[in-house]
Amino acid sequence: MAEKPAESSDILVSTPRDGVLLITLNRPKVLNALRSKLIGEVRAELERAAEDEAVRAVVVTGNERAFAAGADITEMKDKSAVEVLTDTRLAAWQAIGGFPKPIIAAVNGYCLGGGCELAMSMDIIVAGEDARFGQPEINLGIIPGAGGTQRLSRNVGKSLAMKMVLSGEMMRARDALAAGLIAEVVPPELTVERALELAALIATKPPIAVRLAKASVAQSYELPLQQALDYERKAFALCFATEDRLEGVSAFIEKRKPSFKGR
Ligand code: HXC
Repeated sequence: MAEKPAESSDILVSTPRDGVLLITLNRPKVLNALRSKLIGEVRAELERAAEDEAVRAVVVTGNERAFAAGADITEMKDKSAVEVLTDTRLAAWQAIGGFPKPIIAAVNGYCLGGGCELAMSMDIIVAGEDARFGQPEINLGIIPGAGGTQRLSRNVGKSLAMKMVLSGEMMRARDALAAGLIAEVVPPELTVERALELAALIATKPPIAVRLAKASVAQSYELPLQQALDYERKAFALCFATEDRLEGVSAFIEKRKPSFKGR
């Protein structure tokens, strides 16, 4: 997929193809350490993508050595507690987690600290066999600050989350798959290709139903069960107000491929 640099070189952004936008984190010399500028650029690009009808799904990747080795430690070095508390990156992370369209992390190499948190804030993680996930913040005298203690324990359970957060030990892709942290493991050279393929498949689905399905699954991590089931039931009912629902059902009955319009 052809890529052009965005306004700044911390990320590369593709032209959407098959409804899929590819964002590549691009600080290879420092293993894609997530300085504020980079996170801000990802956020801005996702804000554009949310408005762009040509984008129906997004893939975010790094390079073969790292998805991202965490927050930029040099940038964090001299921060005061107040500066950290008011750090706009935390809001940016939340904004990325709230992106309304499907977003897939294609992970090779190190996926650590804020990098692991960034990947976990996305919908699906596809990883290369060489990927390594971890929350090594404890080695720096800090703890995860962008969801690592919360999303990780929801994703892999208490015991494993505690082990990772307290020991800082990394987890290999196969173990991350067994633990439910990620959706698929593939040979490293196929990670981006597979993520793009999956995103392109999702991009063929009815966009409003996709959006509601994503929001409903996301609610399962937010709400008590009865409220989440109620949310799901209403979102399900809302699908019946769409033209795409009529198209999907008609196409099935007429034994043809549906053509979804996002209406
Ligand atoms: C800044 C980093 C970095 C980081 C690596 N680099 N990780 N720079 N911030 N998080 C830089 C190194 O300084 C080095 O620069 C270059 O990238 C290559 O890294 P090496 O260490 O030489 O590579 P290697 O020996 O292969 O070791 C890889 C590694 C190690 C195991 C991933 O780099 C490492 O432990 N990195 C730190 C991981 C970490 O602690 N992450 C959590 C950060 S805290 P030079 O100039 O020397 O070549 C965090 C909090 C999130 O994420 C909070 C969110 C709000």
